[in-house]
Amino acid sequence: MICVTKTLQKQGKLASMQRYSYIPELYEIRYQKPETAKQSDLRVLELGAGSGAFGYELRNTLSVGRLDAIDICPEASVAAHRDRPGLYDAYFVDDLTKLRTETRRAFEATQYNVVAVASATGWGNHIPIAGFQKGFDVLCSGGWFVFHVKPGDPDPECIELCAWIEDLIASKKLRQSYRGSHFHRKSSNGSEISYDVVIEKKV
Ligand SMILES: C[S@@+](CC[C@H](N)C(=O)[O-])C[C@H]1O[C@@H](n2cnc3c(N)ncnc32)[C@H](O)[C@@H]1O
Repeated sequence: MICVTKTLQKQGKLASMQRYSYIPELYEIRYQKPETAKQSDLRVLELGAGSGAFGYELRNTLSVGRLDAIDICPEASVAAHRDRPGLYDAYFVDDLTKLRTETRRAFEATQYNVVAVASATGWGNHIPIAGFQKGFDVLCSGGWFVFHVKPGDPDPECIELCAWIEDLIASKKLRQSYRGSHFHRKSSNGSEISYDVVIEKKV
């Protein structure tokens, strides 16, 4: 991913590829925010944060009080610190499915009321369901879970994620607040990639 990023930077394509457009959906959180009265009380954990393109939107749209990131890949942390210095309050390099004790303790201490993830499921190199489950577990009751799904994607992990979400809704552990198809970014061949952005509240 890092090599692709460097090549695209040289070609001047990076800005258009990394432009997220989630502001309308994120305003759902802004106006129906969890349990607290102030934006600065939002404590956000971003899963599979990569170089921080989505984190930048979270920080600037929600005016969050705290924004932390986790990614399994050390190069992702390096890229985020290089491209968006100061964006995250803390960037944990760790595997969501096997958290180190110090990461788990830091997560428990922070009590996140928003867990967000963009474009990080499927095709073998993304976050498995056990990682999404960990994100769900660290989210406070009444908090917001923001993520992407690709309905109709044949990849088994994408199918599994859709089923996992349906189960959480059916068992009344999550309540869906918003779901809509949104432009994610352009691919290197210029075609547009869209995802369903889903915003749910943990019951
Ligand atoms: C396609 S990238 C998305 C990056 C970023 N969310 C964005 O939209 O620009 C998926 C990210 O998930 C991370 N990832 C995959 N498995 C993970 C795991 N088990 N724990 C934490 N991060 C993981 C990858 O290293 C990668 O940076």
